[in-house]
Amino acid sequence: MRGWIASSLLMMALLAPGADAQTASPALNIFYSAKRMGNLDPCGCHSSAQGGVANEAAVVYPERGKGLPDVRVDAGQWMAPASGTDPVSAMQSRYLLLALEMMHYDALNFTLQDAVQRPAYFAFFGRQHPQAVEPIVSANVFLRAKPNQLAFKPYRIVERKLADGSVKRIGITGVTDVAVMMLGMQRVDPKTNNGALALTDSYAIKDPIESIRPVIAELKTKTDLILVLHAGNFDGAQQLIQAVQDITYVITSAGTSDPSIYFTISGAVIMRVLNASGQQIGLTTLRPRNGAWEFENRPEMIEVRAAQNPDPALARLVTEYNKISGKDIATTDTNRSRSYAGAHRCALCHAKIYQSWKATSHARAMDRLIVRGEQFAPDQLRRSTTGYGEPGGFVHPRLTQSQLLMGVQCEACHGPSLAHAEAETRIKGELAPADKPAAKADVKKTMPPRQVPEATCVKCHDAKFSPRFDMMRDYERVKH
Ligand code: HEC
Ligand code: HEC
Ligand code: HEC
Repeated sequence: MRGWIASSLLMMALLAPGADAQTASPALNIFYSAKRMGNLDPCGCHSSAQGGVANEAAVVYPERGKGLPDVRVDAGQWMAPASGTDPVSAMQSRYLLLALEMMHYDALNFTLQDAVQRPAYFAFFGRQHPQAVEPIVSANVFLRAKPNQLAFKPYRIVERKLADGSVKRIGITGVTDVAVMMLGMQRVDPKTNNGALALTDSYAIKDPIESIRPVIAELKTKTDLILVLHAGNFDGAQQLIQAVQDITYVITSAGTSDPSIYFTISGAVIMRVLNASGQQIGLTTLRPRNGAWEFENRPEMIEVRAAQNPDPALARLVTEYNKISGKDIATTDTNRSRSYAGAHRCALCHAKIYQSWKATSHARAMDRLIVRGEQFAPDQLRRSTTGYGEPGGFVHPRLTQSQLLMGVQCEACHGPSLAHAEAETRIKGELAPADKPAAKADVKKTMPPRQVPEATCVKCHDAKFSPRFDMMRDYERVKH
């Protein structure tokens, strides 16, 4: 009996039209990644450095694609991790987006970890490089200021021509899971935005299941294959499949202790990326059959090993990033002659002035450079930082001490005032009566001038940047 089945299957294979399955298999490769975290370079942790976009482009797609059409997607956490306003990671993320564009990525899921830059950053970068921002999708991340407006488009549809000549439409959508990040989030005005949770200052998220339902229903009528990108935990990916009938393929960034790279649960498949940092890329090959898709090759992880010939265009891109961002500069501050304190220090005593300064564009000058990708341009840094080129002033965005002097701070106008801050701190503390006269003299000696000469403003507001600058008139707009 068993022999009969085997031979009849063989017969069917031989009789099938276009039986030359080796060369004309109507199959589609799905390449998938997650948790790239802005990595452009190989990690230096092994002697055979693994990862790096120039290696990836050389060893993954041409070697393993076997000439089949493919779709390339990322389940999330592609941005370099950033805390606060970090000029270095903001630039690194730009370059990763450019690298993904060059590697023809079709969709990138926008997740909590990608929400480290504001909408203005993506809007500005999108005007310079529309193709780099185009792939970003999310069905459940909204703008916090407009909680009914998605931050990005909910899905993308791409077309691929398979080897049998048929054209397939592939719909790709993405969600970020609420469950793992409930902690520390408040509901923002539940009446007007039906249950959105604040994700950051700029973004809010809604329930992934409720958000993805209408998207899947729409894609069902428009596409031949739906891929769902998911960020969160593994339970969340499972719930998604159970709650929404027509989801069959989920690619998740979820971490779990289980080393399996994929799970099949009642006909649906959840695929995971095991390693982070762009060191492994997932690949599965699907083939359409009777209106559905099945595995031609099951999901596997491809190691991004060091390539003999790294992709030259991507290698150039990485070199450019390293050069622009000063990757090779010594990060230990050689300038020990500190004379600038930083505005955080002034805030301790001049709280009201600090608050009013915070609201000016002087305080946000560096944010503006980050949004525009100009945070390493010397001519911009000169006018958007404090004490640039002065002893003890701002040197480079990579230096911790310099990061305290980003923006046009108090000392950009009043001059270096560390000695004043220290003298005032000392006299406020407990002093032996004998030390008081000297401390008082110190306070007097170090008092920064209250008057700011016009020449100080004009160092930045020069003919090139502010041709119509008028101190008398303009000071009104930044005064405290
Ligand atoms: C420990 C408290 C303390 C700190 C820290 C401090 N100041 Fe002061 N500052 C004072 C006091 C007290 C005065 C004198 C009284 C006044 O005008 O408020 C003063 C005066 C000044 C004046 C002159 C005001 C005038 O009317 O002449 C300027 C300008 C000034 N501070 C700037 C700064 C800057 C810039 C920083 C941060 C680098 C700073 N201060 C940090 C306490 C402090
Ligand atoms: C754009 C330049 C500029 C910046 C930035 C700036 N100041 Fe001033 N500040 C001035 C000018 C100009 C005056 C003089 C006001 C006057 O005399 O009418 C002044 C006055 C002062 C005074 C004395 C008068 C008062 O309002 O009490 C203090 C103290 C002071 N600034 C502290 C600070 C501190 C602290 C910061 C940062 C949080 C800061 N300034 C940032 C330009 C600046
Ligand atoms: C270290 C450089 C620097 C100094 C010093 C400086 N500015 Fe500015 N100023 C800037 C930058 C950068 C911006 C904002 C970015 C832009 O619009 O180019 C700005 C913006 C302004 C604005 C526009 C504010 C707004 O919200 O529209 C005014 C007004 C202004 N500065 C006045 C002054 C005055 C008055 C002084 C001197 C008392 C001064 N600035 C000193 C760099 C400086």
